[in-house]
Amino acid sequence: MVVKVYKDAAAIGAAAGMVFASQVITKPDSVLGLATGSTPIPTYKFMIKAYEDGIVDYSKVTTFNLDEYVGLGHEHDQSYYYFMHDNLFNYINVPEESINVLSGTAADPDKECAEYEARIDAAGGIDLQILGIGRNGHIAFNEPADDFADKTHKVALTESTIEANKRFFASADDVPRYAVSMGIGSIMRAKKIILIATGADKADAIYALVKGGVTPQCPASILRMHSDVTIFCDEAAYSKCK
Ligand code: PGA
Repeated sequence: MVVKVYKDAAAIGAAAGMVFASQVITKPDSVLGLATGSTPIPTYKFMIKAYEDGIVDYSKVTTFNLDEYVGLGHEHDQSYYYFMHDNLFNYINVPEESINVLSGTAADPDKECAEYEARIDAAGGIDLQILGIGRNGHIAFNEPADDFADKTHKVALTESTIEANKRFFASADDVPRYAVSMGIGSIMRAKKIILIATGADKADAIYALVKGGVTPQCPASILRMHSDVTIFCDEAAYSKCK
């Protein structure tokens, strides 16, 4: 695991954005694993600029997003489908039919999850996956648990995650209680992974990831077992590792 410490979120966005740019330049039909949250926004801004400047062409790319809230449709402004279009897809040239986001309104979430997993396999697996990390060490919506979940599945959100995400909703009561999420195995099967973290409220999670043991109580810690992972942190997120 390589750990890179940068001065701020903008520098991390440029560094992670460069990894995506070089991935797509060298393999135009790459399969990209994408994440929502505040942390990847500067990365997506860099990816948009690379498109606008004519440096990166995303027309042959396929994307898979990590997760979606159960109950929110595409038009809901807090759905991850909406977020991805608002922060990236509306400004680059990935064809809509090459964009994959789990449906939060599927009548049968288990079937939706199984089909999503099959779609990732049919696309040849994920070449490059970006991850944020939760304050509790979650990746995607894989919350601390007794076991690592392998495949895409329906999950109940923890109080820590509901608390962290309530800033986007009118109140904590409005935060959905369930999500559909790629599993730890789905993420670990990506060929290359980058994890980005900014701010002091991620310091405990980064300490557990970088210095702790591998445990499902810190789902991100499984990344220590992957052969091609780079962690990009700012000084605040890295502060407890010194
Ligand atoms: P954040 O979310 O980027 O909004 O902090 C990260 C996560 O919960 O995975």
